Amino acid sequence: VRDFTAIQAQIKKLKEEKNAIILAHYYQRPEIQDVADFVGDSFGLSQQAAETDAEVIVFCGVHFMAESAAILSPDKKVLLPEPKAGCPMADMADAEGLKELKKKYPNAAVVGYVNTTAEVKAECDICCTSANVLNVVNSLPNKEIIYVPDKNMADYLSKITDKTIIPWAGYCYTHDRLLQEEVLKAKEEHPESLIVVHPECPKEVVEVADEVTGTSGMFKYIEQSDAKKYIIGTESGLKHALQKKFPEKEFIFPSKNLVCANMKANTLDKILESLQTLEPVITVDEEVRVKARKALDRMLEVK
Ligand code: 13P
Ligand code: SF4
Repeated sequence: VRDFTAIQAQIKKLKEEKNAIILAHYYQRPEIQDVADFVGDSFGLSQQAAETDAEVIVFCGVHFMAESAAILSPDKKVLLPEPKAGCPMADMADAEGLKELKKKYPNAAVVGYVNTTAEVKAECDICCTSANVLNVVNSLPNKEIIYVPDKNMADYLSKITDKTIIPWAGYCYTHDRLLQEEVLKAKEEHPESLIVVHPECPKEVVEVADEVTGTSGMFKYIEQSDAKKYIIGTESGLKHALQKKFPEKEFIFPSKNLVCANMKANTLDKILESLQTLEPVITVDEEVRVKARKALDRMLEVK
């Protein structure tokens, strides 16, 4: 294994010099999580991006996350070390298609998962993340909700609320390919474990789970639970963060496919280069930004 100490020290030094903050999603490589100022879920990262005093935000995540930071903090320089790190699910929804759907359901409120492009957010009434989706949906007076773009989360939502959910056909390839049989096999091998899965997983997986929640919700659930072992249905980067927080517990990731190649595209080398050059900068067209900001602000206000 490569020793990352030297490059991590270089990154920390440069970060101070440039008045930069490093934000990392839980799915980032362990050595990136270890050098970050804040490691969290999509919601926590949005909050940090909105509140930071730093001049530069190095966003270790995927494009829509850096874009959300640019929407929330337009006067800051937002860098995405690997600009090609996109989220395939976010790219499955387009603003034109959403406008058409809105025409078909004029009474529906439009809830956009943060995993969307700025253009799609600009067409949404409110955004949500896996951490606040239920509160967001329940904060709306509308009976009908257009939920974009994750069909699995839409299905889950339709089961846990009394709203009529109009789904989009998107999905996360990392979570969607987790199989129920993989989860059940792990349970057979570790019968004393609890099954905790992300709502982006397919419904067959959600059906057999003890808990369905986003990444930050997993920490909360595990914290209050007495179990020693958990089968985790989400991207495997979370293992590093979970193990750090709960060293006495064991976390089993039931499939080797639980890897998001896009999340893993950022590396320490790219972060260092990005701090040296202050590039690549993520920007959003001002008209789109202002509209998208409304949907993000509305989300941040929901308790
Ligand atoms: P959360 O960390 O907000 O649960 O997001 C999951 C995800 O897939 C982000 O890309
Ligand atoms: Fe997108 Fe899924 Fe990767 Fe998250 S894990 S960035 S939702 S493809």
